[in-house]
Amino acid sequence: MSVIIEPFKIKTVEAIPFTTLEQRCLLLREAHYNLFLLPSSAITFDFLTDSGTAAMSDVQWAAMMRADESYAGSKSYWRFEKVVRELTGYTHIIPTHQGRAAERILFSCLLRQGQHVPNNNHFDTTRANIEFQGGLADDLVVAESQDPRSSYPFKGNLDLERLENYLTENADRVALGMQTITNNTGGGQPASLANIRGAAEVYHRHGVPFFLDACRFAENAYMIQQREPGQSNRSAREIAQEVFSLADGCTMSGKKDGIVNMGGFIACNDSLLARDARNLLILTEGFPTYGGQAARDLEAFAVGLGEVLDPRYLEYRMASTKYLLEGLNAIGIPTMQPAGGHAVYVDAKEFLPHVPPEQFPGQSMAVAMYLEGGVRACEIGSVMFGKPTDDGGFVPSELELVRIAIPRRRYTQSHIDYVLEMCARIVDRKEGIGGMEMTERPPFLPHFTAKFAPIDRWIEPLFGSASPEETPRAPG
Ligand code: F0G
Repeated sequence: MSVIIEPFKIKTVEAIPFTTLEQRCLLLREAHYNLFLLPSSAITFDFLTDSGTAAMSDVQWAAMMRADESYAGSKSYWRFEKVVRELTGYTHIIPTHQGRAAERILFSCLLRQGQHVPNNNHFDTTRANIEFQGGLADDLVVAESQDPRSSYPFKGNLDLERLENYLTENADRVALGMQTITNNTGGGQPASLANIRGAAEVYHRHGVPFFLDACRFAENAYMIQQREPGQSNRSAREIAQEVFSLADGCTMSGKKDGIVNMGGFIACNDSLLARDARNLLILTEGFPTYGGQAARDLEAFAVGLGEVLDPRYLEYRMASTKYLLEGLNAIGIPTMQPAGGHAVYVDAKEFLPHVPPEQFPGQSMAVAMYLEGGVRACEIGSVMFGKPTDDGGFVPSELELVRIAIPRRRYTQSHIDYVLEMCARIVDRKEGIGGMEMTERPPFLPHFTAKFAPIDRWIEPLFGSASPEETPRAPG
């Protein structure tokens, strides 16, 4: 069936803002062509991230009402701890306000100046937190991941041969090893169970503790169930439990597969690490039974960790992502293959071959999508990962992607159809899409606050009917 059945009915609705082309031109110029700097009142469909943007269920909202907001020893913490322990099997469960707080604490405890941390691909906050501690974040993803056309089913796999050599070469200089499930930076692609087993064996043989970045563990487990021989008869929960059992701990952002708007945790078996982590937690996050979250957040998070493993939910979630991917491909917009979990990644390098990497084709594509239909997506390419060199040069990212991240349970199939119609209009005008110049570059995580300008004012003729100089502001 081509109709996707959303396995929920709607109880509360939120109006979508609509803007005119004139308003979008003006707003975008004021935001220095950085979509992170736009007010949400100017966005019709927000695919900037799947993080913290989920619609919560009635059961989650109800659970929030029973929260115990005691400073210490809250009942909500014990409920949360029980759920996370049953899922992950780890002994120590340490709540944090979100994923990057878990990362900062973990790396503060385990990482010393000059030490390395391998991963399939580090997410940007993970890399930034490692580098901030004076460490080196190394990506050892399989080669297939660099080819957007390849439909290799497990592009989140670590290259185990490279990992083996890397650990031999860097013996005693590796603080911990990681694997990110799913591999967000590489296209929301899963790691196979066999590969995670292999990674655990290699890390442990070299005496390196193994941590999962488990933000999207349920989507990863579902794709293992669907794609990996011998796994189709197991539930996503059973698979996820085995995955967790292979590692020594994890960091988690509940804003993804916790289906909550805020929350995260560190989990581990090592009591000394847990002690150090809790000591740091108290400095910046809060007492160990809330760790930067309100008790009501912990309650909703605990429920979300169950709902995310519901087979009907996972089936709908993955069908939605695939529907968008196939729809884009059908109108001539190339995407990373195969469909990943939380997002579709447009291959801007291929779609806009006339825009060179140092002119940020991904940013150009994201800007075009906003101007065309008020749709907000996120560049994942040379804005995020390109590196200026000391001699004034620039090393671009391997891939120039635009991530259309799908918030959980928020948009329906007809919303996605609208996005596809809007994208079809971009295909018709793509020759007119030019490059972007980065006019201001912050030292860390540049994509959040960098400023841009369209090269040769390409936006003006392409969207000729708008005259940004004289147009009204958008509401809000
Ligand atoms: N790890 C991965 C793989 C992530 O995707 C993210 C966040 C984090 C860690 C950090 O978690 O936001 O709770 O601090 N990713 C979001 C995104 C921001 O849009 O992909 P956080």
